[in-house]
Amino acid sequence: YTVDWDASAAEKGGWDSFMDKEIHEDPAAVQRTLLGRLDKDGNINLDEIRIDEHEVKAIDKIIVIACGTAAYAGMVAKYAIEHWVRIPVEVELAHEFRYRDPILTPRTLVVAISQSGETMDTLMALRHAREQGSKVLAICNTQGASIPRESDAVLYTHAGPEVAVASTKAFVAQITAAYVLGLYLAQVKGAMYRDEIAQTLDSLKDMPRKIQWVLDTQTKTVQEAAKQMVDAKSFLFLGRHVGYPVAMEGALKLKEIAYTFTEGFAAGELKHGPIALVDEGEPVVFIVPPARGRNVLHAKVISGIEEVKARGAYIIAVAEENDPDVERYADVVFWRPACPTLMSPLVDVVPLQLFAMDMAKLKNYDVDKPRNLAKSVTVE
Ligand code: AGP
Repeated sequence: YTVDWDASAAEKGGWDSFMDKEIHEDPAAVQRTLLGRLDKDGNINLDEIRIDEHEVKAIDKIIVIACGTAAYAGMVAKYAIEHWVRIPVEVELAHEFRYRDPILTPRTLVVAISQSGETMDTLMALRHAREQGSKVLAICNTQGASIPRESDAVLYTHAGPEVAVASTKAFVAQITAAYVLGLYLAQVKGAMYRDEIAQTLDSLKDMPRKIQWVLDTQTKTVQEAAKQMVDAKSFLFLGRHVGYPVAMEGALKLKEIAYTFTEGFAAGELKHGPIALVDEGEPVVFIVPPARGRNVLHAKVISGIEEVKARGAYIIAVAEENDPDVERYADVVFWRPACPTLMSPLVDVVPLQLFAMDMAKLKNYDVDKPRNLAKSVTVE
């Protein structure tokens, strides 16, 4: 007597794809990455990285090396870490970094971000940095992989295994880990007041709940939008500040699994060229920053929306709940619950992950295993 048993269906835990399952694990990925790193007095405890406090105090520059989604997580972290710690953060694609002559000193901390820990370009770049005497800290999701093994220090993301080729929960976990690292540096270097750090950590701890809100309330809107746009030939994704790497990531997701031509760029670049692409009906996705606190960037993004709308574009906005300007211009809105600007990437990427998945499903593509791509790129 045998029972029909589909092992892969069981692993998907009831979801019809790993990507679907993993997007729904975004809240847990953030939560688990924070777990155990904050003590009861609100201090960040990163003894696990085993870098001496006076070495940490001496760090005067960070260079993030990574590829693809991991590099976009690094770009998000740059905005936060420079603001909190007041040291320069450069983000470089690992394959570019390794073939140039970067300026590294023993006070430079190189941070290698990788979900798999096996990306050859990132591994070679970290060797290149270590050969020149820099310390390398890995932010990695895979225990004991080559990248953490060859690094001086490791900060694991605890997103759990990611199976779908398109990275989703690892991205939010990478941002979380990089934020914890940034706040730790601020704490050790005395770059922020204790209560400022505590407040920022409180906002971060609140993000799993906010991501869950997006999953609970925006999924239907995203599905409808995908149905409406399934035949679109191309998409533009625009954002400013932390919305810029989120736009790049949203564009990458749609390319990877829905095979749609997309371009992500900084919204401020619009009039420096890309606006020429905007034609009647062209879908343009805008990441709109919060309007609160008279945020000057909000007004700038809204004026970008007006400009492309005037040329007939179809506007999809990711914006804070009840933003009246967005309601006026956007054809579709994916709402985010109110949160500080630096926390917004953790929620804003979620509808874009869902959108790419829905588009791919509607086109009957294999969302977990897109053509031509491998989960980890272990060759150059
Ligand atoms: C993400 O959806 C991609 N499949 C890809 O860009 C990936 O993020 C990149 O190859 C880096 O992989 P890693 O995090 O395992 O190093």
